[in-house]
Amino acid sequence: MALSLFSVLALASFFASTIADHEAVQEYSWYKDYYPLPEDYCFNGCYTAADYVTFDVTPAEDADNYYFSLCSNDLKIKSIFYCAQKYCTYEQAVAGRNKMSPECEGNAGFPLPTVDSMRLSQQALDQISVINSTTGLATAPPEGLPLTTPIVPDQEWVDLSIRTVKEFYFNWDVSFDFSFALIGFWGLVLLIGIAHRATVFLGKAPGSGESSWWLWARKNLILPATFSKHQAEAVAWTYTIPPRLESIILFLYVIMNFVMCFPAYNLFVGNQYYAAKKLQLARYIADRTGFLSIAQLPMVWVFAARNDPFMWLTGWSFATYNRFHRWIARISVVHAIVHSIAYTVFEFYKYGDASGYNLSWTAEYWYCGGIATIIMSLMLLFSSYFFREKFYDLFLMVHIAMSIIFFVTLWYHVKIFSGEFNYFLYPCIAIWSIDRLLRIGRTAFISVMPRFTKGVKATATYHCTTEMVRLDITDFMPDKKIVPGLYYYLYMPAGLRGYESHPFTLCSWRRSVSNATSPTHSINDKEVETSDRLISSEYSPGEIAHTMLVRPYAGMTGRLQKKLISSHTSVTSSQETVFLEGPYGEKLDLSNYSDVLVICGGSGITAAISHTHFLMAENPDTRIRIAWAVPQRHLPDDICANELASAIHTNRVKMTVYLTSAAEEEAHDPAKLPVHPPYDIKFGRPHIEGIMRQHRQIATKSLAIVTCGTPQMSDVCRKAVGNVLGEEGVEVGYYNETMVW
Ligand SMILES: Cc1cc2nc3c(=O)[nH]c(=O)nc-3n(C[C@H](O)[C@H](O)[C@H](O)COP(=O)(O)OP(=O)(O)OC[C@H]3O[C@@H](n4cnc5c(N)ncnc54)[C@H](O)[C@@H]3O)c2cc1C
Ligand SMILES: *[C@@H]1O[C@H](CO)[C@@H](O)[C@H](O)[C@H]1NC(C)=O
Repeated sequence: MALSLFSVLALASFFASTIADHEAVQEYSWYKDYYPLPEDYCFNGCYTAADYVTFDVTPAEDADNYYFSLCSNDLKIKSIFYCAQKYCTYEQAVAGRNKMSPECEGNAGFPLPTVDSMRLSQQALDQISVINSTTGLATAPPEGLPLTTPIVPDQEWVDLSIRTVKEFYFNWDVSFDFSFALIGFWGLVLLIGIAHRATVFLGKAPGSGESSWWLWARKNLILPATFSKHQAEAVAWTYTIPPRLESIILFLYVIMNFVMCFPAYNLFVGNQYYAAKKLQLARYIADRTGFLSIAQLPMVWVFAARNDPFMWLTGWSFATYNRFHRWIARISVVHAIVHSIAYTVFEFYKYGDASGYNLSWTAEYWYCGGIATIIMSLMLLFSSYFFREKFYDLFLMVHIAMSIIFFVTLWYHVKIFSGEFNYFLYPCIAIWSIDRLLRIGRTAFISVMPRFTKGVKATATYHCTTEMVRLDITDFMPDKKIVPGLYYYLYMPAGLRGYESHPFTLCSWRRSVSNATSPTHSINDKEVETSDRLISSEYSPGEIAHTMLVRPYAGMTGRLQKKLISSHTSVTSSQETVFLEGPYGEKLDLSNYSDVLVICGGSGITAAISHTHFLMAENPDTRIRIAWAVPQRHLPDDICANELASAIHTNRVKMTVYLTSAAEEEAHDPAKLPVHPPYDIKFGRPHIEGIMRQHRQIATKSLAIVTCGTPQMSDVCRKAVGNVLGEEGVEVGYYNETMVW
C-alpha cells in the first residue's frame, strides 16, 4: 500500500517536473492542420477578442451558421486583421490567417482575405479606435450599441485572449503527448515481448549448445529454475508470460493513466473563453479524459483480435491478450465516465441552469457521446466474469453488437473535429476488418474448400461411459504434422446458432500399427521413419491422425452431445458437418528438456497426447510422464486404446491416472477396475506439488512442467511451481495451457 502510494507520488512528480516548463509545441506534425499551433495563437487571440464585439452589419443570409455570420462580417474580419497587424508579427498574422481561412472556406463557402490585402498604412492603423474589453462587451444587444466601424482591442485584452487560446491548446498538446505515451507504453511492452521471442528463436538455431551468450540468455532469462534460489517471480520468464508479470505491467499502466489526469491545467483570472476557474477546470478535465479514453481504443482492439500479428510476434497467448484487452477497456470506460461527468458539470456552470444544459442534448455530438458512454458502461457490466462464465455465447453476441453501436456513436461524437480523432479509430477498423477477413479466409481454406473437392466431414463418436465426444478431423488437415500447442475454433454450421464457435485443442497422434506385425510392413514403416531421424525401438507409429476431445457442457458442446445420444446404443458415431477455423496458438516444442511432466485434468489430456507423440519423434531420450485427474473411470482405457495406443506401451511414457469424484467411489471396488491397465491408478485428487517435486528429483537434466486443466487446477499448479522452484534441483520450465480465459 505504502509502496504503491510512493510510486504514484514519484510518477506524479516526474510528470509535473517534465511538464512544468513545457512550451506549447505541437510535436505531432500529422495533427498540425487540425488545431492552432503556437504561431497561430496571436491571430487567434485577436479573433477571440474581436468575436466578443457586436458590429452593426445586416444579418447574413445564413445567420444560424456560425462561420457564415463570422466570415461575412466585414467589420469583424477587418478588426481581426488590424489587431493582428498591430500586435502580431507578419509571419504570425499570415500563419493565423492561413489556419482560419480554410474554416471559412469549408463552412461558409469563401476564404478570408489575405494579410497583404488587408494591410493598412501606419497612419491609417493609428486612426482605428482601440477599445478595452469592458467597452467591447458593452456593444452587445439589447442595451449595447453595435459598432459601425472596425476596432482594435487594447493590449491587455489581446494578451488575455492570446493566453486563453494558448492554455486551451496547451492542454490539448499535453493530452496528445499523454495519448501517444499510452500507445508507446504498449508498443514498448510488445517490443520487449518480440525481442524476447527473437532470442528464444535465434537460440534454437544450429549449435545452440555452444554459443555462450545463448547459454547465458537461456539460463538467466528463459529457464526460470536458474532463478530458483532467489524467487518465484522468475517463472515470469517462460514461454508465456504469466499473470504476475502481466499484473505488474497493468498496474504500471493504471498508475500512468491516473497520474495523467492531473498535470498541466493552468487556470487564470481573465480567461476569455471561461471566466470562472471552476469552468476552466471542468473543461480541461473533460478534454483530458476524453483524449485518454479514446487513446485506449487501438489497444482495446489490438488485444481483442483472434488473428493478431502481435500475438504471432510475441508468442503470448490469447488469454494474456484477453486480460490486457479487458483492463485497457476498463480504463477507457472510467476515463469516458469522468469525461462525461466533467462535461455535464461544465455545461451546467456555463449556462447556470438546466435549460441550457438540456439544450445540449439536441446536438449530435453531445447525445452521441452520451450514448457511447452509456453503452461502454453497460459493456463493462455485461462482461463481468459471471456473464462470461454462464452465458458465453450470449455475452459475445451482445458484446459485439454493443461495440458496433459504441463505435458508430463515438464516430459521430468526434465528427465535429473534422477528423482529428479519427486517427484513434482507423486502427480499430483496420484490425477488425483484417481479423474478420482472416477468420473467414482461414475457415474457408481448411473447411469449406475441401468440402467441395474431397467432401470432408468429421466423424463424431460419443461413448456414454466416457462422457466425451471424439471428433476425428484427420481429413481436414492439409499437412500432416504433429504440432503441440495448437487449437482450432469449431463451428457447427447446420442449425440456427451455426455462427457460434468454440476453441478446442488439436490432438495429434500416430495410429498404432499393432495389427501390422508382418516384418515387411514394419520394415517399410521404419524406412519411412528413419528419414524423420529417429524412433524408439518400441514405438511403432502409424499414420498421423487428428482428433478433438470435446467435453460436453450446456452450450454448443451440449447440442452436439444430444444429437449423438439420440440413438439407444452406448457408442454412437456419425458424420458431422463442422467448420474449423485455425490453427491458432503457438507451437510448444519441449524437446530440449530431458523430462516432461504433463499434469492435466479431464479433457486436458489432449495436450499430453500431442506432446507425447511429438516428443517421441523429435527427441529419442525425452521421458514423458503424465499425471491425469479424471472423473470418468472408462475414459483412460478409451484414450489408451486410441490416441495413446502407440505410445503408452513404450518405456518412455508413463501415465498415472487419478480417479476423482464419481470414478473414485465406483472404482474402489477392485472388480470394476481394468485388469492390466497400461497406467498406474490412484484415487482422489493428485497432490500436485508432491508430484512436481518427485519428478524434479528423478529428472536427469531438466524438467518441463505442462499443465492443462480447469482454472482452479491451473492456479494450484502455478502456486506449486512457485514453491518447487524455490528448492534445489534441475532446471524447470513451466507451461500452462489453460483451457479458459
Ligand atoms: C485454447 C482452448 C482450448 C480448449 N480445448 C478444449 C479441448 O480440447 N476439449 C474440451 O473439451 N474443451 C476445450 N476447451 C474448452 C472449450 O472451449 C469449452 O468447454 C467450450 O467452449 C464450451 O462450449 P459450450 O458452448 O458447450 O459452453 P457452455 O455450456 O456455454 O459453457 C461451459 C463452460 O465453458 C466456458 N466457455 C464457453 N465458451 C467458451 C469459449 N469460447 N472459450 C473459453 N471458455 C468457454 C464457459 O465459461 C463455461 O465455463 C478449450 C478452451 C480453450 C480456450
Ligand atoms: C475602458 O474604456 C472606457 C472608455 O474608454 C473607460 O471609461 C473605462 O474606464 C475603461 N475600463 C477599464 C477597465 O479600463
